[in-house]
Amino acid sequence: MTSLMKAAVYRQYGPPSVVRLEECPKPVPGANDVLIRVRAATVTSADWRIRSLSMPHGFGAAGRLAFGMNAPRQPVLGSELAGDVVEVGAGVHTFTVGDAVVAFTGAKLGAHAEYCRVRADGVMVHKPSALSYETAAALPFGGTTALDFFRRGVLRAGDRVLINGASGTVGSAMVQIAVQAGAEVTAVCSSANTEAMQQLGAARTIDYTRVDFAAGGQQYDIIADTVGNAPYSRVRPVLAARGRLLLVLATLPEMLRAPWVNITSAHRVVAGPTAERVDDLQTLVDMAVDGRFTPLIDSRFPFSEVAAAHARVDTGRKRGTVIVTHAM
Ligand SMILES: NC(=O)c1ccc[n+]([C@@H]2O[C@H](COP(=O)([O-])OP(=O)(O)OC[C@H]3O[C@@H](n4cnc5c(N)ncnc54)[C@H](OP(=O)(O)O)[C@@H]3O)[C@@H](O)[C@H]2O)c1
Repeated sequence: MTSLMKAAVYRQYGPPSVVRLEECPKPVPGANDVLIRVRAATVTSADWRIRSLSMPHGFGAAGRLAFGMNAPRQPVLGSELAGDVVEVGAGVHTFTVGDAVVAFTGAKLGAHAEYCRVRADGVMVHKPSALSYETAAALPFGGTTALDFFRRGVLRAGDRVLINGASGTVGSAMVQIAVQAGAEVTAVCSSANTEAMQQLGAARTIDYTRVDFAAGGQQYDIIADTVGNAPYSRVRPVLAARGRLLLVLATLPEMLRAPWVNITSAHRVVAGPTAERVDDLQTLVDMAVDGRFTPLIDSRFPFSEVAAAHARVDTGRKRGTVIVTHAM
């Protein structure tokens, strides 16, 4: 007999109300998989983009190709989770039943369910007992994006780093990781988030509702844009010699322009999807355990209210990450 579980399912692209709890078959792990009982997951900006097909300019067709032309191919969203291993495949030797883990399912999604199947050699590591399930679940999406873009943009101690959209999931991870690397961080955020950014270690904040950072005299070695309103043409005057522009959110025209800027100027533009790496996830877990990285939590919703969690993400105003928790 097929075992059942509850999952947050969407059968059509649209607003948060398309997400409904349904009884679904519980996944069966293959030889190289583990089955995780999910304790905490998150609703991310990626879940919003995929659910509503709100792709950055120029990527609409690519979004349908990737996620389903007329309807979602993978009806369960959610790309990061923490939970307990309840079954392991015959070929799995790195995890055992009862292990607490944190996993990043990335584009495979599937975390918004009571159980999630993950490849044992995927982006998954053990969760130390010092970390709560909620904190662990909030590590991968923002943290791996920050690590990957800073690696590609060659972040160095002493760099003057500006983060546009500093109070979001990715931005708040970038602020903390840049501070840890010895950079001098300027956070671009609204006045409501100024104090939170200072607490994360930002040396300076700029209120984007009052001041245009790109019109100031201050120069930056790295500018990271998580908002999508800081293309090269806008920030070039405030990018230092050999400065790097990290377009976490890039339109297709900006991505196509990046190689030209890289060839014809002393600046570098870095764009494209984040690499999902297990070593990065382990780094984030280690940083979280010793307090060097604490993901900012915006709000918590019980799994039964996952559609409300989507609605919060859709506002575009969350401060850090929206968590979805499962009752024990
Ligand atoms: N390249 C990749 O592989 C990759 C990976 C991950 C994410 N992304 C993209 O990165 C973007 C950011 O993701 P996220 O999850 O960090 O988003 P998020 O958490 O939803 O960002 C929300 C935050 O953005 C701030 N914000 C909104 N408008 C702003 C503005 N004009 N200037 C400065 N801050 C502003 C909001 O602050 P206020 O309320 O104060 O306005 C809020 O705190 C998304 O578009 C996502 O698709 C790309």
